[in-house]
Amino acid sequence: MDKPSPLSRAREYERAHTADDPSERPLFHLTPPVGWMNDPNGFCRYQGEYHLFYQYHPYSTQWGPMHWGHAVSGDLLCWRDLPCALAPDTAADAGGCFSGSALPLADGRLMLAYTGVAGEPPRQAQCLAFGDGVDFEKYPGNPVLPPEQLPPDCRSADFRDPKLWQGTDGTLFMAVGDRHRADSGTVLLLSSRDGLQWDFRGALDSGRALLGQMWECPDFFALDGRQVLLVSPQEMQGGGDFHPGHHALALLGRYDEAACRFTREAALPLDWGLDFYAPQTVLAPDGRRILIAWMENWGYCQQTPRRHSWYGQMTLPRELRLADGRLLQQPVAELARYWQGTVRREADLTPAPLRLPGVSGRTLDLTLLLTPGEGRPRFTLRLAADEAHETLVLYDFARQELVFDRSACGSRQDLAHIRRVPAAPRAGSLRLRLILDRESAELFIGEGETVLSCRIDTPQRAGDITFAADGPLHIAAQAHPLGI
Ligand code: FRU
Repeated sequence: MDKPSPLSRAREYERAHTADDPSERPLFHLTPPVGWMNDPNGFCRYQGEYHLFYQYHPYSTQWGPMHWGHAVSGDLLCWRDLPCALAPDTAADAGGCFSGSALPLADGRLMLAYTGVAGEPPRQAQCLAFGDGVDFEKYPGNPVLPPEQLPPDCRSADFRDPKLWQGTDGTLFMAVGDRHRADSGTVLLLSSRDGLQWDFRGALDSGRALLGQMWECPDFFALDGRQVLLVSPQEMQGGGDFHPGHHALALLGRYDEAACRFTREAALPLDWGLDFYAPQTVLAPDGRRILIAWMENWGYCQQTPRRHSWYGQMTLPRELRLADGRLLQQPVAELARYWQGTVRREADLTPAPLRLPGVSGRTLDLTLLLTPGEGRPRFTLRLAADEAHETLVLYDFARQELVFDRSACGSRQDLAHIRRVPAAPRAGSLRLRLILDRESAELFIGEGETVLSCRIDTPQRAGDITFAADGPLHIAAQAHPLGI
């Protein structure tokens, strides 16, 4: 009998090993059917549904030879698994099918652009596959963009994550991350008439050695009168608004498409949390720009405990807006469809931890408005708590600083557990929106100008939520338990 191809082997494996205990999975955060997941890939709208592919190693809960996993959704929240889309099975990608993007074509096909890794030492090159939304055929002429075509000051070992889009006159564009020889992240821009022959148009932007050593996973789109370049830098040096290590940045600026020139005006962290990387976006039919990211951290994800037959999850999809130079993020509006009711509570807090009736659990959409009386109190929110576990959100009205602290969430490892972020009240009050979905907490501060995404390794039975303050503080809470 013929040996099964790597793709049919992966599909067979996921059929046989998908152990679906729904109570062990987040409700809305996409997880792989089995095995390991990292970056979102090919996030697109195709034939009336959202398609999300992702970096995938079905055979273990560790990173390994990269496949593309695949899921679809009508509303960005409930996902249906589709069979593995790509496996490393050609000379151009024998070492892995790395991250990339998708573009629906006028002839009805879906085109995938991904990075093929091959050779020793491994080299990276851009490849294509075409399909009907389930089955994809790799272009026989892969790679369409071999590293020989790279400008001399770029590196073929770090040339990856193609982002495709169509320009106003139908020209195809591709942005690809690279490590400049001066150890500086850069995004290269290419253009093509047919998708098969590509011409370099220069660097879209580069970190000039200040913003990380390699820029991974670019995305590039217009938003509210500006242009946004998303990049995920490796090895950032901490300082100011940036923590050290892998980061995800929004570079805001203006774009002259005819001249292929992006002029950066600002560089902002996209997420201040512990677990957020490699975001991608899609344009919804109603014009909303929706972002999703891998809710993990390369700094430690290979060492964290494995509790399930799968590992890795995406963030909640978020709507992006730009207002007064601020990038605002909110969970997609579709989340309201899964509210199982509304609980409204008000209280004056004291140092003794207070429970609000109906405000508890690990699947919750909770909005708080904190209004201090005389003085500048410190506020403490304890979540996912029981006698042995807690995660804390602390806000100090004097320092105007929020601290997220999961040191006691249940982790037994010496990892980063704390993040501090500046956050100012508006019109005297601080607004917080917290989304809990079993193994994660995502916190949207103010109008969403600051967001923290964090995984919490806490048993599901720890579902207490309490509120306290060391001075006069009024709290108005609106809670929606979430369910399907
Ligand atoms: C980012 C990344 C990408 C690469 C992929 C490999 O997390 O390193 O640059 O394509 O993961 O899985």
